[in-house]
Amino acid sequence: PSLSEVLNLHDFETIARLVMPEKAWAYYSSAADDEITHRENHAAYHRIWFRPRIMRDVTQVDWSTTILGQKSSMPVYISATALGKLGHPDGELNLTRAAGKHGVIQMIPTLASCSFDQIMDAAVPGQTQFFQLYVNKDRAVTKRIVQHAEARGIKGLFITVDAPQLGRREKDMRQKFEAEDPSEVTKAGSDGVDRSQGAARAISSFIDPGLNWDDLKWFKSITKMPIILKGVQCWEDALEAYDRGCAGVVLSNHGGRQLEFSRSGIEVLAEVVDHLKRARKLTFPNEKFQLFVDGGVRRATDVLKAVALGATAVGVGRPFIYAFSAYGTEGVDHALQILHDEFEMNMRLLGAPSLKNVVPEMVDTTHIGSH
Ligand code: FNR
Repeated sequence: PSLSEVLNLHDFETIARLVMPEKAWAYYSSAADDEITHRENHAAYHRIWFRPRIMRDVTQVDWSTTILGQKSSMPVYISATALGKLGHPDGELNLTRAAGKHGVIQMIPTLASCSFDQIMDAAVPGQTQFFQLYVNKDRAVTKRIVQHAEARGIKGLFITVDAPQLGRREKDMRQKFEAEDPSEVTKAGSDGVDRSQGAARAISSFIDPGLNWDDLKWFKSITKMPIILKGVQCWEDALEAYDRGCAGVVLSNHGGRQLEFSRSGIEVLAEVVDHLKRARKLTFPNEKFQLFVDGGVRRATDVLKAVALGATAVGVGRPFIYAFSAYGTEGVDHALQILHDEFEMNMRLLGAPSLKNVVPEMVDTTHIGSH
């Protein structure tokens, strides 16, 4: 189908499945075990309903925002997804170019198929980028990666904390993985690569399962970038991250690819906001400690629900990689345009001229958490 026939973010998945190489589809679409958490991620949004307001002037609506002090044209960022070249020869550069055009922030993965510098070089002047870090057992390697990222102007360090070992993704395990471009993968330090059980296994052996709270002090000593923990799943850990000086947390279950029966980020958000309000007197959205959510976000209405509940922004993963797998950079461009169009209409229908007006009273969470 031509791009003009692609009406929403779900469509990219349907089309990508038909046109993508089997191996790429297996790696991108797979999730842990029986994929129940993966399915629930989107389904959780179906349990939250709106309480829109009427008779407000919505001639002008503005859904732009700031994320970690950086301008973003929408409360959405492109979350880190590894191995972009499995889906398209230009890999992550498709995301960089479309993000630059739309003023959206891309989170560059440690395990990108393109080199970090190649991605930075593809950005337009002034384009904001974040970096996702998998912590290497060899901390000298980690230090080098982090300091290089900072030197190149990365504005936020997202440390992935939900993957001491990669989850069991059986669709992917049935494939044998041969890196298209092994340079980055091996540079990341994966010795003794096991190529017999899918891409995830092959690339992840360098990740340090020893990572713990005390390491945060070291990270703060080697970088001035704001540090955000990606993959927090309960209020206790969000509170600890706040107390230890993190700039925020991503409430995420890694797109359902890690611990099966993790709750969806949007459900955890409600719990985290509630406890941080009471225990630390914080209000959300908060400039000093920002809450992010990802997993199953496919519509601007999903995003607006998270914003209403206190999230600064949400991350989107698969839709963008399906978009470039099927259509290259233009696909990602179109996906972002779809989101812009959805924001414009839904902000009007909600009676919210700006994101400041998207408040907790605009959602009905009576049914949240009931499966
Ligand atoms: C991911 N994700 C991920 N996260 C991370 O911290 N480091 C990584 O290398 C990857 N790689 C990766 C690859 C693929 C193919 C997927 C689908 C996901 C997780 C990602 O950042 C995000 O948390 C989820 O993708 C969000 O869920 P949706 O939007 O894909 O439903």
